[in-house]
Amino acid sequence: MQNIFDIDEWKIIETSFDPKKQLAAESIFSIGNGAFGQRANFEESYTGESLQGSYVGGVYYPDKTRVGWWKNGYPEYFAKVLNSCNWIGIDIEVDSEKLDLATVQVKHFYRELDMRNGTLTRKFTCELKNGKIIQIKSTRFCSMNDDEIAAISYSIKPINFSGNVTFIPYLDFNVRNSDSNYNEFFWKEINKKSSTSESFISAVTKKSDFNVVVAFNYTISKDGEHLNVNSTKLENKLYVANKFEVLIEQGSEYILEKYVTVISSLNHEKDLESIAVNKAIQSKKNTFHKLLNNHIKSWHSIWDNADVKIEGDLKSQQAIRFNIFQLYQTYTGNNAKLNIGPKGFTGEKYGGATYWDTEAFCLPFFLKTSPKKVAKQLLIYRYNHLKKAILNAEKLGFHSGAALYPMVTMNGDECHNEWEITFEEIHRNGAIAYAIFNYIRHTNDKDYLLKYGRKVLIAIARFWVQRVNWSNKKNKYVILGVTGPNEYENNVNNNWYTNYIARWCILYALKTDNELGKNHGSLISKEEESKWQDISENMYLPKINNSNIFLQNDGFLDKEFVKAEQLSNNDRPINQNWSWDKILRSVFIKQADVLQGLYFFEEHFDIQTIKENIEFYEPYTVHESSLSACIHSILYSLVKEEEQAYKMFLQTVRLDLDDYNKEVDEGLHITSMPGSWLSIVEGFAGLRIRNNKLVLNPTLPNKWKSYSFNIIFNDQIVNFDIRNDKILIYNKGGNSIELSINGRDIQILENNKIKIEC
Ligand code: BGC
Repeated sequence: MQNIFDIDEWKIIETSFDPKKQLAAESIFSIGNGAFGQRANFEESYTGESLQGSYVGGVYYPDKTRVGWWKNGYPEYFAKVLNSCNWIGIDIEVDSEKLDLATVQVKHFYRELDMRNGTLTRKFTCELKNGKIIQIKSTRFCSMNDDEIAAISYSIKPINFSGNVTFIPYLDFNVRNSDSNYNEFFWKEINKKSSTSESFISAVTKKSDFNVVVAFNYTISKDGEHLNVNSTKLENKLYVANKFEVLIEQGSEYILEKYVTVISSLNHEKDLESIAVNKAIQSKKNTFHKLLNNHIKSWHSIWDNADVKIEGDLKSQQAIRFNIFQLYQTYTGNNAKLNIGPKGFTGEKYGGATYWDTEAFCLPFFLKTSPKKVAKQLLIYRYNHLKKAILNAEKLGFHSGAALYPMVTMNGDECHNEWEITFEEIHRNGAIAYAIFNYIRHTNDKDYLLKYGRKVLIAIARFWVQRVNWSNKKNKYVILGVTGPNEYENNVNNNWYTNYIARWCILYALKTDNELGKNHGSLISKEEESKWQDISENMYLPKINNSNIFLQNDGFLDKEFVKAEQLSNNDRPINQNWSWDKILRSVFIKQADVLQGLYFFEEHFDIQTIKENIEFYEPYTVHESSLSACIHSILYSLVKEEEQAYKMFLQTVRLDLDDYNKEVDEGLHITSMPGSWLSIVEGFAGLRIRNNKLVLNPTLPNKWKSYSFNIIFNDQIVNFDIRNDKILIYNKGGNSIELSINGRDIQILENNKIKIEC
């Protein structure tokens, strides 16, 4: 595959300007800080193709739903994270000609995303139509140290002239969502002010009434010396700017530093305007340099925990860091109102809403790379939505505290309205329960379980208990009319994955309640308990006769068994080239389905069974969801099919950088990014947590000399360094830890290293 951007271990680099690549580059070079983020649009005007995108986490609009035929139980709206104020804007005019990379002649161009330091830098030289040549350098960041602050340093140097340059730093809320259903405009202006020292816009979202205030101020210098300029203020609807002219001298460098604050009513109840303005004033006092240093320090401490080092494969090294970087730009765990949209802050597809992706893919990553409060916030988010999940289930006819969590949500309300997903893709409930289990086995946080987790588990179990049917014919409980993770099958009966996870949820809720019940009383009645037992003992789990293969769903074997490798390039991706009718009748599997279940519940099966199931399902899987290849990679590692594991890993880790699915211009696949980290840590290294012990069964991909990563376990950091001939383990914490390495039990004392020869 041809590289779209240069390969470097810590950087993503673009060395020429290609307008055709601009949309993709805007996604790839996105920056954010968990609270807000933006695509890599240019500061100055750009009339070429671009998706202007600045998003504030949790600030959404309930966009009127679009649906062909209404069904009871559909939600009224689809929440969308809003494209918000363009705060990077700095218009530049050189002797009255506007700087616009779509119209000038670009001589040199360099763009760099520095992942270690969290900065986006651009340098270019261009010749304007009037013959003037200028050199521009810009650096910006969304502060990880204070997630309400961003700053830009924008420098201009005249190369072949001295002349007049007009600077217009501005804020502009006149932004639309490209995914708006009825092309409505979502913002209303509340207040604004433009002045030399402080400018701001306060705007509110229509219907949802979120208030966002963005403020800015700036400094301008010549060759490092502060310049006093006379500026005029510009104000238009939802727009404020300052405009000033500087006579620039050939060879000198002029730097505009723009300090921005983004404040929202999500975090502040009152005085948003003064908070925003004061923070901008304070930022200016602090100076760009100091803000940047604090930001860099915050990134370094994230990397100290979360970095993965790979020796011998630069492409993988770059890509895994890119994935980790983007994940931490999207979610920091600072705020339980926020979650992780499939595109993060890099695009609008999926509306920035929460999917099962969070629990199934993102949580295991944050759980092992961050202090436990980060993963806990994700669980608290769902706990806070429990009442709504119960109401959602009631709307569909369930009762007695049964909860059906939404497939797509912003605030707990279901937002999705395609019946096969809204009503049928109920396996999402299972992923939420599984995430609780995962969190507890990592942290043993019984307090969380008692206060929050148990209630969620019981409500989910109650849903499954009411969702099953007794089949006289099968003499078993069945689950009818579902869509499994493989969305290329709808309204099927007995999706193995769904039945399996439903049964497991019931058992896990029972076990949890029994354990906590001893000291804190039970929350379920004896009658309920025996019903739950009965269902879990008699759940129908379809299997292909005389084999170890779990049957994806009833009727699957009636399909025509054509392998995915027989599809031509014109067919793929089938979701863009085939009718839905053709897809549904085909055997092709969008993403891991039975295999997703084997991944979650690996301990329940022997290796041979897992191997036979991968061998059976892989040939029919088209991996048209970004959530798929990583699961196959982890399972291939488990069954020691190393080449396949590596191939699937590459498909995951470089999905966006190499634009495998030809859609990176829409944004990045944030929620599948943890999959590449899991493919290394759970896949290649075979790391598991069993009975409060770290278990490791490592392999080294052929191409790699070594790889190393940290795990946060029981609040302490353990570093693993895996090489061909040895494994080095460093327990950086203050307590000893128990491990099992390749089946051998060992203990590592606090602050100790060990070496195991292989
Ligand atoms: C996948 C879902 C996923 C969603 C958002 C879909 O294409 O099939 O499993 O939740 O994308 O990432």
